[in-house]
Amino acid sequence: MGAGILGTGHYLPTRVLTNQDLEKIVDTNDEWIRTRTGIEERRLAEDDIDTSDMSYHAALGALEEAGVSAEEIDLILVATVTPDTPFPSVACMIQDKLGATNAAAMDIGAACAGFMYGLITAKQFIETKTYKKILVVGADKLSKILNWEDRTTCVLMGDGAGAVVVGEVSEGKGILSFELGANGAGGKYLYQNELDQLVMNGREVFKFAVRQMPQSTINVVEKIGLSKDDVDYLVPHQANIRIMDAARERLGISEDKMATTIRKFGNNSSASIPMALSESVKDGKIKDNDLTVLVGFGGGLTWGAVAMRWGK
Ligand code: UT7
Repeated sequence: MGAGILGTGHYLPTRVLTNQDLEKIVDTNDEWIRTRTGIEERRLAEDDIDTSDMSYHAALGALEEAGVSAEEIDLILVATVTPDTPFPSVACMIQDKLGATNAAAMDIGAACAGFMYGLITAKQFIETKTYKKILVVGADKLSKILNWEDRTTCVLMGDGAGAVVVGEVSEGKGILSFELGANGAGGKYLYQNELDQLVMNGREVFKFAVRQMPQSTINVVEKIGLSKDDVDYLVPHQANIRIMDAARERLGISEDKMATTIRKFGNNSSASIPMALSESVKDGKIKDNDLTVLVGFGGGLTWGAVAMRWGK
């Protein structure tokens, strides 16, 4: 018996913000954004849609795909840096909306790597047989903390939510290894300032990410006696196509074996990985038994990866 993903879901806001739209807001251009980041457009949540609303919709999709009812959920973990309010947590808000009356609930803050922290926390509760079904959500409405006058950050981000249901899977399937890490000394490179706005030193985060993503991928596959050549599918945090391609090239992974949502979604912070995973599942890109690696990094600095054998 292991812990694995039983179902995935995601919520994509309907409002599209293109690079051309951004040209009217800040001193930028489509050419710069596409060549430096890979992003063509991103989605922004409507004013009356907050992080908990997006989380709720993503969660509904994951529960349905898993064939699990809200009452069966024992624990809800929501990774977010943009909760509706500091408390109650988004996890408590969706516990109520879903009617998941038997679930404990809390939020997790590890920025863009938050979903990885949530997933690995869920794995521990399942493997120790403490809980049977856990809902893990990654959701962010980054648009509400962006400085819309700072072209170095506001062009990069989008809103969204992704969710998974974690539970028992058969021997050899599910999460086989993981890595979590943090380097608080790098906190100064990506943080929320006193005006509640996101501030980033892009070059420093870029250098960290290009090094960390392939290294964490190699670490988790080597922990199970395999190598990077055995990876069938990679779901990386979607921060910049150049970071993702650099990782892919170092790992020797072809383009069709990497989830890529950044072109249409931008960087969705905590939601990037579960959204990209959910899309890949819906598009039939991940097959039963595929060695799938999820890998993320973010403010903190934080990082996390899992190697999993896909399927139940
Ligand atoms: O999920 C959170 C983690 N975040 C990340 O992983 C982001 C990591 N960093 C990056 O993806 C990249 O560093 C950025 C996309 C943020 C920036 O790309 P870069 O190639 O590192 O550009 P740069 O910061 O070195 O800036 C190059 C030039 C500068 O102009 P000068 O000084 O050369 O004249 C910037 O002012 O590009 C300028 N620039 C822009 N120009 C047009 C910066 N932002 C823009 C913009 N439009 N939006």
